[in-house]
Amino acid sequence: MAHQQLHPIQIDPRTEEPFIRLPSPYENIILTPPRMEDAPHIIQNLNDPKLIQWLEGPPHPYTAEHAEFWLQTITKSSKSIFEELKEANEKDPNGSLAIVGGFPLRSIREVKEDGTQTFLGDISVDRCGFPGELDPEERSRLTEENANRKVGDPNIVWCIGDYLASSHHGRGIMSAVIGTVIREWVVPRMNAHLIRVEAYTGNTGSVRVFEKNGFVLEKTVEFEKPKILNSGMPQYGYYVLWWRRP
Ligand SMILES: CC(C)(COP(=O)(O)OP(=O)(O)OC[C@H]1O[C@@H](n2cnc3c(N)ncnc32)[C@H](O)[C@@H]1OP(=O)(O)O)[C@@H](O)C(=O)NCCC(=O)NCCS
Repeated sequence: MAHQQLHPIQIDPRTEEPFIRLPSPYENIILTPPRMEDAPHIIQNLNDPKLIQWLEGPPHPYTAEHAEFWLQTITKSSKSIFEELKEANEKDPNGSLAIVGGFPLRSIREVKEDGTQTFLGDISVDRCGFPGELDPEERSRLTEENANRKVGDPNIVWCIGDYLASSHHGRGIMSAVIGTVIREWVVPRMNAHLIRVEAYTGNTGSVRVFEKNGFVLEKTVEFEKPKILNSGMPQYGYYVLWWRRP
């Protein structure tokens, strides 16, 4: 797997798995592709009220079948990015770094002193589907326009989704993860210029994480009537924040 186009991804010599290590003081945190054996940890996290009170996507209760289906889906996406990198390397092994259509290392892991690794959470970077756009026609139009843009187009609007095991909240980990992913991959390897994120009103922790990474609050939208998430939690509105490449 070792080839120039992987930069700045490293390869674990023991397992040959690609990874990016966070900078100090978070060297014990790495980002890797998803692994099927993460399922029990994903199930635990996606049934944790502290997390799912803020998450729209996951079904509830979150079962082993959900985790397996999800892991298969995201493993495929991660592999397809590595295929793009491999092709770029075969075409031009000494060429400049290729721009690719996604981020393949979404699983956040803690490396213990004895070398064992624990799944801690997830960071996704996908083309935006404008989830909070209240007008369905406008949402479809924006999503289609965004999906049709070519890889590397600076007008692609990207969305970040994230969660971290509640045992590790408040230690600065997600702020460092997002900073690293944007700096090390999303800018140089995806040519991203625009990232749009949404967080439900009251999710101050999430907003702080984005603000600390240069995102700016654009607007706060209030729902006409409370939206009930799969977890049963009511939500009353959402913030929209944007990151624009400086
Ligand atoms: C949002 C989330 C990913 C943050 O991860 P984290 O590693 O705990 O975040 P960090 O420690 O890097 O930063 C959290 C910041 O928010 C602040 N914060 C957290 N909760 C807060 C609260 N209730 N009120 C005010 N500030 C709060 C912290 O003080 C910190 O800011 P600071 O560094 O300026 O002090 C994590 O809380 C999580 O998984 N939440 C549930 C899922 C979720 O909401 N995902 C995002 C959906 S949009």
